[in-house]
Amino acid sequence: MELHVANHPLVSHKLSVLRDRDTPSPVFRALTSELVTLLAYEATRQIRVEDHDIVTPVQKTVGKKLAKPRPVVVPILRAGLGMLEGMVALLPSAEVGFLGMVRDEETLKPSVYAERLPENLADRQCFVLDPMLATGGSLLQAIKFLANKGASDITAVCLLGAPEGVKAVEEGTKGLTVTIVLGAMDDKLNERGFIVPGLGDAGDRLYGTVG
Ligand code: PRP
Repeated sequence: MELHVANHPLVSHKLSVLRDRDTPSPVFRALTSELVTLLAYEATRQIRVEDHDIVTPVQKTVGKKLAKPRPVVVPILRAGLGMLEGMVALLPSAEVGFLGMVRDEETLKPSVYAERLPENLADRQCFVLDPMLATGGSLLQAIKFLANKGASDITAVCLLGAPEGVKAVEEGTKGLTVTIVLGAMDDKLNERGFIVPGLGDAGDRLYGTVG
């Protein structure tokens, strides 16, 4: 597994505003989109391209275009949906699949409650979007889900990660081609499985609480 933690003052600045508990949902959503576009630049560094003949106003040359099959972007509902727009801004031709997962607040175990993905992901590069990598349980299950459908390499884009979760994903994905791109690596998890210092519950901050 490869890990990239953004090291950029704009990412740190925008993340600090997200962390602030007084930042309202509309600002939180707008900043999430901006951050994802910045992280997507790093996340797509290995995206497959192929040669493509073009003619400039001056002469013929060989350019690049995204290779087929198209990459697949997979936001993990619900909070990952807040990252979709920022990602497809950079990858407008990507296909989008959805995975709905929720973490039990007591056991912290994730479960899948919705799935809408291409049946066959063979040779597809997949980009999983989830703002929080806490225990890593959700991301690990999502990666295995995609790998079982044939995904050849999987990149996760997360705003914040905890060292415990990154380690769990690394140990659980041996033998798979996995990359994690983080906006920041935080200190640890607290006893409720929240990232510390973190930003709270990303789903609630984006969309409000659900009963
Ligand atoms: C949160 C978050 C991740 C997951 C991270 O989702 O968005 O999906 O928990 O935790 P983990 O690394 O310990 O698995 P949540 O279950 O709160 O659902 P939501 O997105 O609908 O708010």
